[in-house]
Parts: sequence; C-alpha cells; structure tokens
Amino acid sequence: METNKIFTNDWKIVLPDTNLVVIPVTPSNAITYIKVSFKPETAEIQDTHVKYLTQHYIESRIKREYLRVLVLQNEEIVGFDALGKFSQPTDEIQTVNVGIAFVPGFLGKGFGAKFLRVLLRLSCEIQTDQVQMGTLLDNTAMRALAKKFGLTETLGIVDRENGGRIAEVMYLNIDRNAFRDVPLDVTFGEEVVVL
Ligand SMILES: CC(C)(COP(=O)(O)OP(=O)(O)OC[C@H]1O[C@@H](n2cnc3c(N)ncnc32)[C@H](O)[C@@H]1OP(=O)(O)O)[C@@H](O)C(=O)NCCC(=O)NCCS
Repeated sequence: METNKIFTNDWKIVLPDTNLVVIPVTPSNAITYIKVSFKPETAEIQDTHVKYLTQHYIESRIKREYLRVLVLQNEEIVGFDALGKFSQPTDEIQTVNVGIAFVPGFLGKGFGAKFLRVLLRLSCEIQTDQVQMGTLLDNTAMRALAKKFGLTETLGIVDRENGGRIAEVMYLNIDRNAFRDVPLDVTFGEEVVVL
C-alpha cells in the first residue's frame, strides 16, 4: 500500500464481503462527519468543529496523528469514526485512540468486526507509541467486539473535561502490529487540495 497517500489523497476501502466503503474525512466532507459524530447544537459549534478537523487534517499530512473516516453504503452514511491523538504533546508516551460506530439499522450485522480490522490495520500507519480503545461498562456490543479481537479489558474511567463520560473500560496498548498484514481493498484518488 502507498501509505503516504492515506494522509494526502482521497481513497476508498471496501469492507470485505460487503458493499460498504470506508472513505477519509477531508476538509470538503468534514461537515458531514461532524453532523453524525458530534451532533453540534449550533452553527457556531459546527464551525468550530470544522476548523479543528481541518487543522488536524492539515497537520496529519506530515504528523500522521489523526485519521477520521466515514463508512458509506450507496453514498449514505452508515458508520464513522476515528484514529485520533489522545495524549498531550508533552507526554512521554504518545497514545492514539480508536473509535468505532455504526448508525442504528447497521448494528449487530458483523460490520463492526470488519471495520475494526480495517481501523487497526490503518492504525499501523499512525505516528504514535501506542493505540488504545475505551468504552462504557454497559456497552455490551463494544465489549463483545473487543473480546472477539482478544483485547484485554482494564477498568479505567475517562471523563470529558466539560463533563460526560467517555470510558469505564479501557483496552490499552493494543498490539496493532498483529494487524499489519490485514489485506486492504484500497483505491486511491486524487491528492486533496486544502485551500
Ligand atoms: C459497538 C459496535 C461498533 C459493534 O459493532 P457491531 O457491528 O454491532 O458488532 P458485530 O456485529 O461485528 O459483532 C461483533 C461481536 O460482538 C457480538 N455482539 C454484537 N452486538 C452485541 C450485543 N448487543 N450484545 C452482545 N454481543 C454482541 C457479536 O455476536 C459478535 O461476536 P461473535 O462474532 O463472537 O458472535 C456497534 O454495535 C455500534 O456501532 N454501536 C453503537 C456505537 C457504539 O457504541 N460504539 C462504540 C463506542 S465505544
């Protein structure tokens, strides 16, 4: 795979044995990602999100610390999420968090497992020391998915600075190298021009 193009070009990855396609979030479709993931309450908040996603996209062309994606079926969004830097620049060990989500109607159909395999393969292209995931104790689907992948659970509360819980269960230091050989059905498009 031409790995440098992951952070600079349009591309699409077909999830195995499905008609679902994973595409990168770029400045031109950031607003779509923001509407499904952050669900901003005002246009102002929406604009703030667009600005920082665009900033992350530009930085990641060199730093490779963020990779947000959308999952589409016939151009309709059915899933989304991200590989995103979680640690502070001053932290000795840099960490990237893996997020994964499908929309209602696309749950429990085996798509989560296929998507997570692709995300963990893509995590091998991210510049970081370690990769982690987290979820809530009552998220039986996510915990079952992690168990299927043989990931070790540890209890670890993570709260947002402005309130709200992100995780109660953590999967730390995931062995991303175990996914380096996962085949990707990837087609690269044009380089994304950031204006
Ligand atoms: C969590 C999520 C990504 C899992 O993906 P999914 O497509 O639903 O899961 P899959 O169909 O690939 O199933 C993976 C495994 O989990 C099990 N599983 C799925 N849903 C389950 C549920 N509700 N309860 C118990 N086990 C479940 C499946 O049986 C399968 O295990 P198996 O192959 O050993 O039988 C998906 O449910 C989702 O997007 N949920 C909403 C958003 C969310 O909670 N994201 C995680 C935030 S941390």
